[in-house]
Amino acid sequence: MVVGGFNSLVFLFLISGFFQFNVVYSYTRPPPGETTLTKHHKPDAFPEQVHIYQVGKDRMGDLGQTKWTESTLDHINKSNYHMLLLPGDLAYADFIQKRWDSFGRLVDPLASQRPWMVTQGNHEVEKMPLVHSEPFTAYNARWKMPYKESGSDSNLYYSFDVAGVHIIMLGSYADFDSKSEQYKWLEGDLKKVNRKNTPWLVVLIHAPWYNSNRAHQGEKESVYMKASMEDLLYHAHVDIILAGHVHAYERFTRVHKSKSDNCGPVHITIGDGGNHEGLANKYIEPKPKISLFREAKFGHGTLEVFNATHALWNWHQNDNHEAVVSDSVWLINLSSVMDKLNSELLLKNINIMKENERLRKIAQQLNQENQTLLIELKRKLSNDASNSNNNASNNPAST
Ligand SMILES: [Fe+2]
Repeated sequence: MVVGGFNSLVFLFLISGFFQFNVVYSYTRPPPGETTLTKHHKPDAFPEQVHIYQVGKDRMGDLGQTKWTESTLDHINKSNYHMLLLPGDLAYADFIQKRWDSFGRLVDPLASQRPWMVTQGNHEVEKMPLVHSEPFTAYNARWKMPYKESGSDSNLYYSFDVAGVHIIMLGSYADFDSKSEQYKWLEGDLKKVNRKNTPWLVVLIHAPWYNSNRAHQGEKESVYMKASMEDLLYHAHVDIILAGHVHAYERFTRVHKSKSDNCGPVHITIGDGGNHEGLANKYIEPKPKISLFREAKFGHGTLEVFNATHALWNWHQNDNHEAVVSDSVWLINLSSVMDKLNSELLLKNINIMKENERLRKIAQQLNQENQTLLIELKRKLSNDASNSNNNASNNPAST
């Protein structure tokens, strides 16, 4: 498949709509016509180890780039990952369209080698009353994701499978109430997930639903979207929800309705890819119990899915020469946990039923014995009464 006239594989996505592994893609960089060939190996089956990388957010402050963005991309480039996930705020173009171009050039060395799957952030909205009323014009044109393949009607939310993981990219800046198209699509998509084929269920949003940083508190994209969709994702046993927006790193325990819950998803904010606005380094004190690790440093996260039950999450801080692992946690697949819990519950119910049956039989036996004793007692009483009458007949003088 040869596509010319585009700057990077990112734009190849744009017109192809999907990406296939084990296929050689080529593209021509204009001018002067340099061609790059890239082969991708298909990571679609266990037990192959899969790396899913996420650059939190974002990028350069102007037509150049921040040193932290460069650092993050350099560290990622040294890794043998399969796919990069980015939860919004890509280019910080903010109406200045040439920033989209410079962002494309910045990520081209990486995005030409691996699939980059993204969702939108507030810096992609680019809507201004009386000037430009249509939101996401540049984002939808430049970063077209394979949304139609997942039955979505919008580039702002879609899903796909990769190596035992069903990944759902939600739109924090698309309608998300229970009557919205996004909500209906999400409901339908979750019903189609087969946890035998894709045991892991990962969701990306932009504005975090859980956040103990002082930045971005109380925004409707966090509060109202959480209120609308949290139950839906909880009952689907989502394993991880990754967010950006806050320029820092924070990992929560499994949570639901703002409380620790072993059946809820792990929430992680990874909005620390590098940006010109700086880090969000002020936190709410004391630290909430559900927040397990938080730090305002630039970096990126990696999710290594080893098999159907175990995955390793690492958060790498940017250091001068290498990415330093600063937070690390093994995650147990929630569907396998739920299966185990259901199996245990089923076994418990079976044991209770067996015990009930045993007690019923004992009760039945006791009842039979009681009946026998009662019959025996009646017979004895009858005999005693008969004997007493006979004795009275044989000794009339005694009266
Ligand atoms: Fe943002």
